Amino acid sequence: MSNETKRRDFIGMSFGAVAAVGGAISLVGMKQAWDPLPSVLAAGFVKIDLSKIGLEPGKPQTFKWRGKPIFVLEKTADMEKYDGDLVIGDKRYTIAIGLCTHLGCIPAWKKDVWKCACHGGEFNANGQETFGPPPKPLVVPPFSLNGTVLTLGETGKESDAMIKARA
Ligand code: FES
Repeated sequence: MSNETKRRDFIGMSFGAVAAVGGAISLVGMKQAWDPLPSVLAAGFVKIDLSKIGLEPGKPQTFKWRGKPIFVLEKTADMEKYDGDLVIGDKRYTIAIGLCTHLGCIPAWKKDVWKCACHGGEFNANGQETFGPPPKPLVVPPFSLNGTVLTLGETGKESDAMIKARA
């Protein structure tokens, strides 16, 4: 093998090695660009342990899921029982996306109803529209239940039953 041939082989192998390293780096960069950010992954599923959030009957709390307010109400003993309640043991809950079904304002809890300040709409403790322009009940978010832990964003039979009751 001549010196010229050896030199050409060396240059060819060098280009090949540089191309392989460059390709590998590009693949790593592409994977990082395509993978969802940790904040996006976290926003997809939100866990709420109903036994650990200090929920008091008749005093709803609001959580955030995918940028939307989620109302969680533990009903008092004298609130109406409803097929769309989430029942855990002897407790009954209302779970709803906290956006008015008229034009999307966030209703506020006043004593025992959610009142919408935008056009006066009202929803009862079941999340059903009872007054004003809202055309339908508050929407139930998809969730699953494991013991007392809700996982928002994960469709389960409990949220399906609530959605069906409100249809
Ligand atoms: S947006 Fe709530 S009543 Fe209009």
